[in-house]
Amino acid sequence: MEPCSWRALILVFFLLPLLTQGRTRHYKFNVVAKNFTRLCSTKSIITVNGRFPGPTLYAREGDTVVVKVANHVQENVTIHWHGVRQLTTGWADGPAYVTQCPIQPGQNYAYNFTLTGQRGTLLWHAHIMWQRATVHGAIVILPKRGVPYPFPAPHKEVVLILAEWWKSDVEAVINEALQSGLAPNVSDAHTINGHEGPASGCASSARDGFTLRVDQGKTYLLRIINAALNEDLFFKVAGHLMTVVEVDATYTKPFTIDTLLIAPGQTTNVLLTADQGAGRYLVTASPFTDSPLVAVDNSTGTATVQYTNAVSTSAIATTKLPPRNSTSLASQFIDSLRSLNSKQYPANVPSTVDHSLLFTVGLGVNPCPACPNGSRVVAAMNNVTFMMPTMALLQAHYSNMSGVFTTDFPGQPPVAFNYTGSGPNNTQTMNGTRLYRLPYNASVQLVLQDTGIIGPESHPVHLHGYNFFVVGKGVGNYDPTTSPSKFNLVDPVERNTMAVPGAGWTAIRFRADNPGVWFLHCHFEVHTTWGLKMAFVVEDGEGPNESLPPPPKDLPAC
Ligand code: C2O
Repeated sequence: MEPCSWRALILVFFLLPLLTQGRTRHYKFNVVAKNFTRLCSTKSIITVNGRFPGPTLYAREGDTVVVKVANHVQENVTIHWHGVRQLTTGWADGPAYVTQCPIQPGQNYAYNFTLTGQRGTLLWHAHIMWQRATVHGAIVILPKRGVPYPFPAPHKEVVLILAEWWKSDVEAVINEALQSGLAPNVSDAHTINGHEGPASGCASSARDGFTLRVDQGKTYLLRIINAALNEDLFFKVAGHLMTVVEVDATYTKPFTIDTLLIAPGQTTNVLLTADQGAGRYLVTASPFTDSPLVAVDNSTGTATVQYTNAVSTSAIATTKLPPRNSTSLASQFIDSLRSLNSKQYPANVPSTVDHSLLFTVGLGVNPCPACPNGSRVVAAMNNVTFMMPTMALLQAHYSNMSGVFTTDFPGQPPVAFNYTGSGPNNTQTMNGTRLYRLPYNASVQLVLQDTGIIGPESHPVHLHGYNFFVVGKGVGNYDPTTSPSKFNLVDPVERNTMAVPGAGWTAIRFRADNPGVWFLHCHFEVHTTWGLKMAFVVEDGEGPNESLPPPPKDLPAC
């Protein structure tokens, strides 16, 4: 054989598989308590590896990731890889009492999963109680080696994590609220990469704010993550426009904006070109809510974009904050999102529907003899306030254990009413650990309908184990006869967390091609705590590729 064909053979049989197969990346997450000072006040927080925000997990599409989590704190811990599809690896998903029992103090668990068909930015976070306030970080999934971005290659990439900071212990904040039956205290600051920044009024905070150094004329890829617990955020860079190119690890059609909206659990990649005069520019993260009843932390998290050729003492250029209640700005942003839907990255929207579901999402009021008012605020989907079990749902499902959950979650509201009107007279909810069963590969259309009970409010709803397509959205009540005619089944945005507008609805579609138990919940942690959650049981298909394997040996016990 000619030497060059030998070379070709070596390339085809040895090198190409190495290049395309993906490698295994190992990470060690030590969960430890550590003192942090913010807003001129110090407290102990739970962290991964002593860092806030936690370490960034880097991998390429197709890689396998093994993260060994060791719990060195006194509380139970779990970690969720938010947005990772976890195809047949439900045991590694992470929500406590849903896919696993928590990792107890002194115990370990190795999360093992493969990044299939995803590239972009996601986040990881604790998934038990309110621990994710400080236990969170970025997941950066680079394209496979040699595969370019479908947009101009940036000069550099930067992770920007937006979050909330409370001066008090977060578990104390929510426990106090549960005892009073009322809403928890809002946070004391918004942070960008762990710092409240130059505009916070605390001298040391101002010094410690995050600075992004840019070379004039160069373009940067900002990987923006909303890791806040309870607030949608507007994000701006003074004097600069941003081009959105990806959300929730799926590519979008590029569009240019000056204000970005990002809900808890969502991620957005934007290109930012340093095309302004040499100087310093303020970066802001400020709250969005168009619900007049909801209290939010009104503070602005800030950071600085600093041109490398600027004088570091030059005055910082500021920007007008978007109005806190700007529904128009919010919906304009949401309506601009479209899947890239190219030949290489098609939008495979289910065109037919096997299960057509309508879930109301909203609040309710239940009796509470121990509460000062005799009642407590709760939240529900289809009037079911979800009760957490004491055993993991996935384990109960896998081993056919009875008595842990039922599969009678209602596919339609049990009582039809004018959802976005003033609500029914009876605002009491039913308690239950009720799941909805889906056969393997069923195509699902789910309409999430906000209610006006207590007050309308937008809800960032997150589905585990899947991406879905956002095919429609509207104000008022969803109308099954007229609303679907306006659905976008061509290039709807594909994501894992979407906002149901206050006093409105959103319709999503997905194919149930991932067997397991998958959590669906509001990513406002306060609403999840109050019961705005449920889960789908997706049955096995045929053969090992369509079935949930047995649990790993080190899966924590309850
Ligand atoms: Cu990001 Cu169930 O969560």
